[in-house]
Amino acid sequence: MTAENERLAERATQVLPRGNSRATLYVPPAPPYAVEGEGAVVVDADGHRVIDCNNNYTSLIHGHAHPSVTEAAVGAARRGSAFGLPTESEIALAEVLSGRFGRNLRWRFANSGSEAVMMAMRGARAFTGRELVVRLAGAYHGTYDQVVAPDEPGVPRPAREATVSVAQDDEAALRSVFRTGGGNIAAVLVDLMPNRAGLRPLAPSFVTALREEAAAAGALVIVDEIITYRLGLGGLQASYGLVADLTTVAKIIGGGFPVGGLGGRPEVMASFDPQRPSAIHWGGTFSANPVTMAAGAAALAAYGPEQIDALNGRGDTLRRRLAAAGVEVSGRGSLLRIFPDDPAKAWWELYRRGVLVSVNGLVALSTAMTDEQLDTVGAVIVDTLA
Ligand SMILES: Cc1ncc(COP(=O)(O)O)c(C=O)c1O
Repeated sequence: MTAENERLAERATQVLPRGNSRATLYVPPAPPYAVEGEGAVVVDADGHRVIDCNNNYTSLIHGHAHPSVTEAAVGAARRGSAFGLPTESEIALAEVLSGRFGRNLRWRFANSGSEAVMMAMRGARAFTGRELVVRLAGAYHGTYDQVVAPDEPGVPRPAREATVSVAQDDEAALRSVFRTGGGNIAAVLVDLMPNRAGLRPLAPSFVTALREEAAAAGALVIVDEIITYRLGLGGLQASYGLVADLTTVAKIIGGGFPVGGLGGRPEVMASFDPQRPSAIHWGGTFSANPVTMAAGAAALAAYGPEQIDALNGRGDTLRRRLAAAGVEVSGRGSLLRIFPDDPAKAWWELYRRGVLVSVNGLVALSTAMTDEQLDTVGAVIVDTLA
């Protein structure tokens, strides 16, 4: 760290716990401070320039300040940032998403992926009249009590007991959970390539098993596509031939603004129909605000099948290069993960050399990256880690 970053970090400790607002951004002794970003480059408070492979934890599919996304957001803000009335922009984004998934779906928007997951679980419980949710051990689904790590402090026991975890790809364990608790299972909540658990795609046979077990037990399948949605027009589920009852999205669908979204079959989503006497009451002061909706629609308009394939192809090329150089790497398409022995040390070394990755080693490409920048990213990672 150098002068201005250090000064800001010191100032932050006076008003924020260890100077921190997002645990996911913390790297000891303190992360540097971003000042601006343009395309694939971020500049910090000391003027150090880095190629952004974090992209705000995968959410900035076009990098920073993409012209049409910025224009959409600024245009919406000029007309009013939020209203006590719905706006046409939420219909438009929902139409875009239904079109991309190619299914008759209903959508609800929120301000974060965590909220979307929370409401997916509540929706599944309301729809089935059951309580238990089966999930994968080690997978991250946000900050809701019922999906945080089992040893997270401050979580009441009933919240811990409201879910049961199964190890990724452990088909026998999954079948056994359904054998014993099937009648009380509301849903299986699954990320098809859980980042925290290693960013390794689920085995197709395991996905088949969970679909079979859920169908036989009358439980729903909730697919968390909050990170993986960028991998395909209909998310990662499409490549498994999996049709989720409920899908959570966030990140790229907000064009860089706070967002969460829940989509699902009309019958299931009817649990949120406010005319129903037994409806789930889902508000949210800034849910579906027009700035986010407009920015999200603009970001998705510039990320069609061609762009998705191209970006995934570039990610696959980078992954092959890293693997060929002996760097342990996982992921698929435009999402990669590296596994340094000392993550904080490697993070700083990569940062010093001009590459910003996530503290846990997640690398997310953006359409803003040039071939030259991608080449630099590959060379710097190999040089630092191999
Ligand atoms: C798979 C997955 N689900 C849920 C979330 C929570 O989303 P948010 O941070 O928008 O609350 C995240 C965030 O990284 C995620 O990666």
